[in-house]
Amino acid sequence: FEKMPVNITVNGAAHKLSIEPRVTLLDLLREQLHLTGTKKGCDYGQCGACTVHVNGQRVNSCLTLAITVDGKKVTTIEGLAKGEELHPMQEAFIKHDGFQCGYCTPGQIMSAVACIREGHAGSEAEIREYMSGNICRCGAYPNIVNAIQEVKN
Ligand code: FES
Repeated sequence: FEKMPVNITVNGAAHKLSIEPRVTLLDLLREQLHLTGTKKGCDYGQCGACTVHVNGQRVNSCLTLAITVDGKKVTTIEGLAKGEELHPMQEAFIKHDGFQCGYCTPGQIMSAVACIREGHAGSEAEIREYMSGNICRCGAYPNIVNAIQEVKN
């Protein structure tokens, strides 16, 4: 496949890249930019482990072709903390044990931040509905909800 020029800002850093049209944003982040915090669970839109923000909106990066992100801003889990200072949602996940094995956690946290930002954290049911695309095989759901409710308040 012929490569195409793409300009993407990731966590505040501008990247001029040349990529094949078939490359997903997930593979671009992990394999070309070496940002491996974003996880590949299913690679077909079922698990949410690959969740990132594009221009502030959450997306499944495994379902997003990297060329469609040309000119946009991407935030990954690596971009949430300010230096040594964790994002409040990261602190809340630690405080409430919002993870066990941790594989789904980057995606859970990116969705959790978007949940509040987009105004879907009104009730526990609303939070669970918004977060339903992020699967946790360890079953940390109640603790994840608690973390979101704490940050919301
Ligand atoms: Fe993208 Fe599972 S890896 S939804």
